[in-house]
Amino acid sequence: MPDSPSNPLRDPRQFPTETLRLLTDLGAELAATGADWAGFVTEQRRSQLRTGAFRGAIWPGPGGDAQALAGWQDSGAVGRRGWIYLAPGRQSLSALEQLLHWLERDGGTPFVSWSDMIPGVPAEDRERLFRSRGFTDVLRAEMRLPAAVTIPERPVEPGFALRPLSGSDEAAVARLLQRVYHGELELALFSSTRDELEDARLIVHDVIHGGVGRWLPTASFGVEHAGELVACTLANDHVGGLISEVGVDPSCRRKGLARALLARTSRELRVAGFVEPRLVVTLWNERAVRLYRMVGFEFTVGGTERIWMDLPALGVAASVPRHSPRDEGLYAGNR
Ligand SMILES: CC(C)(COP(=O)(O)OP(=O)(O)OC[C@H]1O[C@@H](n2cnc3c(N)ncnc32)[C@H](O)[C@@H]1OP(=O)(O)O)[C@@H](O)C(=O)NCCC(=O)NCCS
Repeated sequence: MPDSPSNPLRDPRQFPTETLRLLTDLGAELAATGADWAGFVTEQRRSQLRTGAFRGAIWPGPGGDAQALAGWQDSGAVGRRGWIYLAPGRQSLSALEQLLHWLERDGGTPFVSWSDMIPGVPAEDRERLFRSRGFTDVLRAEMRLPAAVTIPERPVEPGFALRPLSGSDEAAVARLLQRVYHGELELALFSSTRDELEDARLIVHDVIHGGVGRWLPTASFGVEHAGELVACTLANDHVGGLISEVGVDPSCRRKGLARALLARTSRELRVAGFVEPRLVVTLWNERAVRLYRMVGFEFTVGGTERIWMDLPALGVAASVPRHSPRDEGLYAGNR
């Protein structure tokens, strides 16, 4: 790859018109692949641009037309989680390599993950490129409960009480999620502070206060045992009804609590008008995949997202469960 004496990347806030154009083009290309969340994400990025909160880099072209745009969330403590868009006409492996080269040397915190959704660059090329940089792919799949399927509601064991959640449960839900994900890969993947309780607090805050669309307390439930919250589901209106969290305290698993919570949450989502509740699961999370399949969720077509992650930088041991070739098939729709 040719090296460059000076890095041409600039702050997108200096090029608002070009940035907006590339954001719009990217949104359209993602929507064309069947990503129904593309509109939400594009609007979120536009709004960040308007308020000055957008973080990223633009590659201005010689004739004024921008060639590429990258954006990221920077947690400081962990690193940057980025995405890339190459403008039509610049969608090639060499342009991607060049852009990554400059981004990695821009003096910011290191990149710990990249979205694999880079329109125009073949999947095999993206794979070779990110693997050669030490990144591992993590597949996140969307599942949907078909309208015709109802999860039977069964009472929870004596001593356990299922109840709706309210805003005043926020701190208790965060403490529960810390116990739920303690030592689990999931939290490391999405960590922004490297402190489990603080990460759980930030995740719950985001879900409850608009970061994942409107929170739906009427479809969010908890289970109490001996005065403590031991399991919960959270639900949001995020491009439709989304079950944004399912977690059971390690000491209370295999008692049917997750199944009972999913039954109530999906029923209330339907009462609120969301006929086909959705959720997103990391494919190596076999327990969760088995649970969702067992109660009737199905993988959606084209709903699998691949994220390239620098696992050692995220504090995840090098040996991680791999998704199976069957799971690879789920991703085929996105190629
Ligand atoms: C996944 C999780 C929510 C399941 O909660 P749970 O209350 O133990 O699940 P249930 O008792 O309702 O189990 C229902 C079914 O799911 C499947 N299942 C649940 N845990 C399983 C496990 N450890 N291994 C295999 N299958 C499992 C089984 O089919 C089970 O039915 P069965 O007990 O009759 O065999 C729980 O393990 C958890 O909190 N994990 C960490 C957080 C997480 O991964 N959340 C999902 C994020 S998408």
